[in-house]
Amino acid sequence: MKNFSLFLSFTFLFLCPFLSQADVPELSREPPRPIVFVPHDGSKSDPQQVHVSLAGKDHMRVTYITEDKKVESVVEYGKQPGKYDRKTTGESTSYKYFFYHSGKIHHVKIGPLEPNTTYYYMCGCNGPEFSFKTPPSSFPVEFAIVGDLGQTEWTAATLAQIKSQDYDVFLLPGDLSYADTNQPLWDSFGRLVEPLASKRPWMVTQGNHEIEFFPIIEHTTFKSYNSRWLMPYTESLSESNLYYSFDVAGVHTVMLGSYTDFDCDSDQYQWLQADLAKVDRKTTPWVIVLLHAPWYNTNEAHEGEGESMREAMESLLFNARVDVVFAGHVHAYERFKRVYNNKADQCGPIHITIGDGGNREGLATSFKKPPSPLSVFRESSFGHGRLKVIDGKRAHWSWHRNNDSNTLLADEVWLESLSSSSSCWSSSQSHDEL
Ligand SMILES: [Fe+2]
Repeated sequence: MKNFSLFLSFTFLFLCPFLSQADVPELSREPPRPIVFVPHDGSKSDPQQVHVSLAGKDHMRVTYITEDKKVESVVEYGKQPGKYDRKTTGESTSYKYFFYHSGKIHHVKIGPLEPNTTYYYMCGCNGPEFSFKTPPSSFPVEFAIVGDLGQTEWTAATLAQIKSQDYDVFLLPGDLSYADTNQPLWDSFGRLVEPLASKRPWMVTQGNHEIEFFPIIEHTTFKSYNSRWLMPYTESLSESNLYYSFDVAGVHTVMLGSYTDFDCDSDQYQWLQADLAKVDRKTTPWVIVLLHAPWYNTNEAHEGEGESMREAMESLLFNARVDVVFAGHVHAYERFKRVYNNKADQCGPIHITIGDGGNREGLATSFKKPPSPLSVFRESSFGHGRLKVIDGKRAHWSWHRNNDSNTLLADEVWLESLSSSSSCWSSSQSHDEL
């Protein structure tokens, strides 16, 4: 984490022309708020940027970073504060990006853990005590969902809203730190989200701001993202951290990669096909998918950017009777009807764009007119969503604007799982087959 000033200067002098390529400059957006840079106040050996994620059945992965490379990758934990009766050693990595040298990034997979249970833990035998709660093993289960988070004052407002109401698992459909090659901002983002991400599993997939390709200097894409946000891809038999799946209670969640190959001969496509084929709707009646670039979008921002992925993969999701597809990328909120192949279809997934976390670029304020009959609700405001799955049949979706109190719902809808919709399954097709 050295050379911050030099790196910052370099970034603003030379990188800015490249940073704008990911966005649509002609759009009229509301003014973004300033970046919140969170410094590290502890010693070099103190763990920082602590976050936890699901890591296969009954296991969690604890990730933390130390500037001191001698600190061990070890997590002590137990069910009572200050009493750690278990200890696990993990692995570590680090990376270089031009002048920047990352700290030691520790990943420690712990378990088996009991469901719906609070564990107290310490990282690297040093620093403060943290705690997290494991998700329940059965319904109900609640997800907080928002993409394009960034690290601005808007982000802080979104995080405060999320923190004010409990949830089990956080889902982020891409665009985390908006570091955009300025690596110290990855560290700042890790510190900003730590109060939440150290307490509940945070499950993320990548957006375009995670690519961080730089001509001549850095050709390895997703270098920082893959080093810092290790997700359970090996546990879900994927060969890439850019796409994976996991089960929580009765919900099978698939995280897809909008910025890696998705054609029918790609590894991602083959993996998705095999992953969906294994889903047992008796065990996981709900199937949801997250990706970054939306397949359905009536905003002028990023229009058509998810189209080639939709053409390649939509039939896989439709045939598996996926319930909901969440996307980010467009800095606004939009909810669609059940759709398939650009038409309303009672057996297709509901598509929801929830890219309104608080990024530095502001909101995407230009929706196309007249509105599409497929689009049910759309608004350019910062906020986050909640998916509360009540049982195998019913779930409640709500969208919470930052400007409202959390008891006020700007949009809400009750959902019924397609697993319980007999008209969407042919007589020769058992639920177990899909
Ligand atoms: Fe994006």
